Amino acid sequence: MDGTQLGLRNVGSHCSISEADDYDLSRLLDKPRPLNIERKRSFDERSLSELSIGLSPRFATRGAENSRGLENFENMCSPGGRSVLDTPASSTRNSFEPHPMVAEAWDALRRSLVFFRGQPVGTIAAYEHSAEEVSNYDQVFVRDFVPSALAFLMNGEPDIVKNFLLKTLLLQGWEKRIDRFKLGEGAMPASFKVLHDPIRKTDTLIADFGESAIGRVAPVDSGFWWIILLRAYTKSTGDLSLAETPECQKGMRLILALCLSEGFDTFPTLLCADGCSMVDRRMGVYGYPIEIQALFFMALRCALALLKPDAEGKEFMDRIVTRLHALSYHMRSYFWLDFQQLNDIYRYKTEEYSHTAVNKFNVIPDSIPDWVFDFMPTKGGYFIGNVSPARMDFRWFCLGNCVAILSSLATPEQSVAIMDLIESRWEELVGEMPMKIAYPAIESHEWRIVTGCDPKNTRWSYHNGGSWPVLLWMLIAACIKTGRPQIARRAIELAESRLLKDNWPEYYDGKLGRYVGKQARKLQTWSIAGYLVAKMLLEDPSHLGMISLEEDKQMKPLIKRSASWNC
Ligand code: GLC
Repeated sequence: MDGTQLGLRNVGSHCSISEADDYDLSRLLDKPRPLNIERKRSFDERSLSELSIGLSPRFATRGAENSRGLENFENMCSPGGRSVLDTPASSTRNSFEPHPMVAEAWDALRRSLVFFRGQPVGTIAAYEHSAEEVSNYDQVFVRDFVPSALAFLMNGEPDIVKNFLLKTLLLQGWEKRIDRFKLGEGAMPASFKVLHDPIRKTDTLIADFGESAIGRVAPVDSGFWWIILLRAYTKSTGDLSLAETPECQKGMRLILALCLSEGFDTFPTLLCADGCSMVDRRMGVYGYPIEIQALFFMALRCALALLKPDAEGKEFMDRIVTRLHALSYHMRSYFWLDFQQLNDIYRYKTEEYSHTAVNKFNVIPDSIPDWVFDFMPTKGGYFIGNVSPARMDFRWFCLGNCVAILSSLATPEQSVAIMDLIESRWEELVGEMPMKIAYPAIESHEWRIVTGCDPKNTRWSYHNGGSWPVLLWMLIAACIKTGRPQIARRAIELAESRLLKDNWPEYYDGKLGRYVGKQARKLQTWSIAGYLVAKMLLEDPSHLGMISLEEDKQMKPLIKRSASWNC
């Protein structure tokens, strides 16, 4: 099979997606290139594999093996040749011995598949049947399916991803109500379920847009993940025809219409209620949470690459460009915290009026929590959890920071600083299980006020400082993007020492993440898929392109806050 059949020609001929994502070769010129990949590939693919710059010899050898493996991979990829029940291509296409956990993980991932009228359309959140109460873990969650989708794409099995994208698009088209209130047209579900009627032999879908969810939380992240996944599918298969269908174009526009609508906002960030993303319970993440802002930024960039510049598309493209400029400026300036910045805030004057104010949000230095002074390394930095009037949530959130790196919301310098921070605060952020969803935990009185006494979110558990194996794939992707394979390997080794033995828990508890989470599900699909994606990314860094966007040179980086602070 040649590249044309694989759709590579399509990738090359489509300007918006290939140009937007092309790697800047000049950046790589002065670095050693250990990979000698003979096969003729598209420019896009070639430059992505060169990301393994500066990696250890072991890594480089793997890369070379992969280059041979890629040919095998192509043979296996013949249309209709592979089914979702086949053995993983990734473990067969390399000559080195795969970790025994990989095969176990693939089996578990395939067991979690959900079928609709005979077609795989997603994976259930958790397979554990022994649980006394299943809650909604038997549903296909949009956010949970992302690592499953990436694993299937990396393994050359895009059909399930396509089915999922189309099914969720149909759900978006439903009229959605909560009590007497009609939700926005663009809203995507948090999750859906297939109901099998064995007597009538029919399958029907039910979806949850927040109307059944605990706390009735709105899944703001679902639409963003949907767009991000559509790009990953397009990038990985080279099949532009799906994204270009009028249905997908409309689906994107509806999501964008919701988040680009004008309101009373004074900031370009997206205003949210608590619990509207992976942290789907009250956790003080209302306002402008970093997770949503980073996903918003990434989804906008993906949509920009996928939208057709026709009459309707063009209008959205223009709005996206304007918003991206303002959003990146705002985030890079006001959410960024490093040693220097912390010192500046510590010395802030308050009650400043007019546009000359330095302390624009009137943050009172006394509100800086003690822990942050110890936590902040001399070298390193991160995007803090939230910024709004007189409120800076200094907590570290893993997902938002990793997505900031992957989407290039973080400048290259900021990306390096985030990795430096992870390295120097390894015990706090990674400990014995990669990795903490948020740091630090909130306790006592603060826990009572912020969570509403939530017994699931006690200190160092679940969303309140728990350690989530699913986050491994994002950490590994960030490591590869920033050229830190040694961190990636360290994290994977930690995960390998526990995950299978503990039966793939949803999360771990404790300051170091040593204990299987109090109410953690076992056989949690995104823990399984996250591990596979992490392994495949490290094995073949060219996969990174489907979930990463290079820096947009148009968006001038703002590195020094002090320089921009007064303008
Ligand atoms: C929990 C998590 C949420 C996840 C869901 C299904 O509610 O907080 O992020 O999507 O479980 O796994």
